[in-house]
Amino acid sequence: MPTLHPVRLEHLQDPVLIDENEGMTASSLLIFAGSTRAQSWNRRLAQAAAQAAQAQGVTPTVIELADFDVPLYNADLEARGTPADVIRLKALFHAHPAWIICSPEYNGSYTGLLKNTIDWVSSPVKGDPEWSSGTKPFEGKVVGLMSASPGALGGLRGLSHLTPLLMNLQCWVSPRQFALARPAEAFDDAGQLKPGAAHDAVQAVVRQTLWAANAMQQARPA
Ligand SMILES: Cc1cc2nc3c(=O)[nH]c(=O)nc-3n(C[C@H](O)[C@H](O)[C@H](O)COP(=O)(O)O)c2cc1C
Repeated sequence: MPTLHPVRLEHLQDPVLIDENEGMTASSLLIFAGSTRAQSWNRRLAQAAAQAAQAQGVTPTVIELADFDVPLYNADLEARGTPADVIRLKALFHAHPAWIICSPEYNGSYTGLLKNTIDWVSSPVKGDPEWSSGTKPFEGKVVGLMSASPGALGGLRGLSHLTPLLMNLQCWVSPRQFALARPAEAFDDAGQLKPGAAHDAVQAVVRQTLWAANAMQQARPA
């Protein structure tokens, strides 16, 4: 199995990142996977999405959830103070108008890691006016969803659960989604997505997500 070399570009910038003439700019797009497994297919898919974005002129911010020290959510723990890395994640989510999430499917749904991350990020921070709204990091974000699984459906059922969760948090979910079955056949030994249908599908999800986020930003009242 190849070693993954994730692109890690953490640009915390103002959330207004759209140049009216040039469309989506660097740091408009946040990409992450719902797995921290070393040889994760979904982390590989996230890298493929990053390459697709770069091919479309957008340099994404790719984060690894393993780089964030986020405990299991517990309201008693939270009452003692929201972890600093949760605040970092809130700021990252808020700063990017478009996201791509690549989520594994566990028992027909998305992963506990992803749920735990979203639960923390959506929890209001008492005494902090900046994060007093739980939905602030999510509102108006355009989210493209992908999954990869050795199973025949490619993790599709997990995405059908993730969609209403994100909509409940006021995200716009791109109608085009991609579930990659048999990922071992789609990636080469270097971890690159081979040319073909999967490659084209990743490009299409990224393109639609960037297009919709761009259109939404442009339509935003001044
Ligand atoms: C607890 C658990 C439950 C799983 N349930 C499913 C499932 O419902 N459907 C499926 O296609 N794969 C399922 N799998 C297999 C995962 O899709 C597979 O391990 C996948 O490679 C995980 O994603 P990753 O490679 O990005 O870590 C499950 C794996 C685990 C550990």
